[in-house]
Amino acid sequence: MGYLRSRESISLGAFSEGKLAGLPIAFTSIDGLANIDWLVVDRNFRKIGTAQRMVGLSEDMAKRKSMLRVWCDTSMRNEKSMSLFRKMHYDKAATLKDWGYHWDCYFRARKLQ
Ligand SMILES: CC(C)(COP(=O)(O)OP(=O)(O)OC[C@H]1O[C@@H](n2cnc3c(N)ncnc32)[C@H](O)[C@@H]1OP(=O)(O)O)[C@@H](O)C(=O)NCCC(=O)NCCS
Repeated sequence: MGYLRSRESISLGAFSEGKLAGLPIAFTSIDGLANIDWLVVDRNFRKIGTAQRMVGLSEDMAKRKSMLRVWCDTSMRNEKSMSLFRKMHYDKAATLKDWGYHWDCYFRARKLQ
């Protein structure tokens, strides 16, 4: 796992033999909130815990930065990501109607401290 940093955000990448295997763009931080966005894992590295590990490491980094919560939005049509974030104890905080993709999304958040 490795990090790419810019002034506003940090992206976490999973690598295998020097190739990118997974990427969440995380930590556009506003008022103690970290956002996990565009989480994606290469098809060859799915179902072996890569996303879980990346979300866990994102949370560790958010804690180190004294953030209070991590949030993400998941399309209600995306069973995989809904299952992943449910498993990782992200509570449904709100339903976002017609949220950009022409269908509803769930706003999910996990309290860190
Ligand atoms: C969703 C995604 C990131 C999961 O990555 P992954 O590395 O395969 O996930 P993990 O191996 O860490 O799995 C963790 C949990 O996610 C859920 N999950 C992962 N793949 C799943 C699938 N095919 N069907 C249902 N649930 C799934 C399960 O709850 C799983 O726990 P389990 O293994 O005990 O069943 C990956 O499938 C992906 O990149 N999909 C396309 C992009 C996308 O939809 N991103 C999410 C946007 S928020």
